[in-house]
Amino acid sequence: MKGSTKLQPQDVIAPIDRRLYGSFIEQLGRAVYTGVYQPGHPAADEEGFRTDVIEAVKELNVPLIRYPGGNFLSQYRWEDGIGPKDQRPVRLDLAWRELETNQFGLHEFMHWADKVNAVPNMAVNLGTRGIQEAADLVEYCNFPKGTYLSDLRRKNGAEDPFAIKTWCLGNEMDGPWEIGAKTATEYAHLANETAKAMRRVDDSLELVACGSSSMDNPTFGEWEETVLDECYDNVDYLSLHRYYGYYNDDDPTELDNFLGKNLDLDAFIKGVVAMCDAVKARKRSTKTINLSFDEWNVWYHSNDADTKVTPWQVGPHLLEDVYNFEDALLVGSLLMTLLRNADRVKIACLAQLVNVIAPIMTDTDGGVWKQSIFYPFMQVANHGQGEVLVDHSQSATYNSREFKDIPYLDTVSTYDAASQTLTVFAENKHQTDTLDFDIDLTDFTVDHLIEATQFYGYDVKADNRDGKMQLQALPVNAQDHSANVTLQPLSWNMLRFKVK
Ligand code: AHR
Repeated sequence: MKGSTKLQPQDVIAPIDRRLYGSFIEQLGRAVYTGVYQPGHPAADEEGFRTDVIEAVKELNVPLIRYPGGNFLSQYRWEDGIGPKDQRPVRLDLAWRELETNQFGLHEFMHWADKVNAVPNMAVNLGTRGIQEAADLVEYCNFPKGTYLSDLRRKNGAEDPFAIKTWCLGNEMDGPWEIGAKTATEYAHLANETAKAMRRVDDSLELVACGSSSMDNPTFGEWEETVLDECYDNVDYLSLHRYYGYYNDDDPTELDNFLGKNLDLDAFIKGVVAMCDAVKARKRSTKTINLSFDEWNVWYHSNDADTKVTPWQVGPHLLEDVYNFEDALLVGSLLMTLLRNADRVKIACLAQLVNVIAPIMTDTDGGVWKQSIFYPFMQVANHGQGEVLVDHSQSATYNSREFKDIPYLDTVSTYDAASQTLTVFAENKHQTDTLDFDIDLTDFTVDHLIEATQFYGYDVKADNRDGKMQLQALPVNAQDHSANVTLQPLSWNMLRFKVK
């Protein structure tokens, strides 16, 4: 099978906001307790943070991390997680029916985020709480000094303000599972008033309003319009959440369908962009609302196990999906789809980061291992830099149960003028045929190939618990103005060129 693309430096979709490669730590399951935080573990540092986990997170080069939830957020009292640890209360977490000891809270998260070189994407509880508590949290975090809350932060060890810029106004407030779920009208009013109050404390904040928690929710569309109608002038981003599953194990065509699910992500993004712009036009506004895709991933493997977990434990094994090779292929495709929409998606968070539907796992023997999905995420987050180039790719297409015209060749390229590096990500979705991929680089001059890797050859149902998955070298025929490469069936590939 043949496939091709033509890449031109002037043919640009958008500059890449590195926050597109964000992730998420929720106080849920073992994300925090025995994940990022485990005092007494041989690899724990003086603050109880797992240094082996820190090293793995740094490999992913995640620039922004959403915290503290998620569903957990909607009943959380942020004050429980500050001050002397021996005075912090143990609480019932009604979202996940766990015990929350609050030994890890705001200051611990800020220190940990600093150690992994990430900034926070903080969230305020608009489920059981409201305007005052949100404004208080901004004051505690961002006000320099001389008030009760800013001085309390200083007393708790943070002399300088945390200067947190990006804030989520609640989480999935349209979801009936959420503690304190709201109608669109209720949420729109509360989010708008909260945004105004938070900005009175610090007018430099960037605020994210909740969009629908899924495109499948019955209120999708109506929710976005109602929220934006009220909040348009006081927020900067609208959020999207989407998780994908593999539901027909007995159907041999399901893999083709699963690998096409990035088309759903693309349609979701384009639909929400259209709604943002319709409200903009109706309001005759000059301001553009961009998107924060602050939860996305594959999530389904752990669903059955989670129904059997005993409630009211600290750090139970919840949402511990073990990802297989086909999940890595879909995650690669989802990342490329986010990049192709980088003109409007400015923030995105792989949900989540450690132990909970995560690329990084800590095992019960005390070690760390990397899931299959770690590899495409690591490559895109590290090398998808500069600007996204317009995709002129061509290949044969196929139809599946849910989708039409899925290209076998899924590819996107980025060009970083500062380092003169051109990076091509490419996936072959064909289950049996190789793909002969021609890359037309007429408007670039190739100096040399920096590296080329392929991720392939694993059973689609294989996972990486044995640590055997690895990126392999990819042979490339590179000329001055072109390159040719054979993409193996069901493979994720990356090529990086130094260009002049
Ligand atoms: O990421 C897991 C959960 O998925 C989050 O807590 C919630 O926001 C979403 O439903």
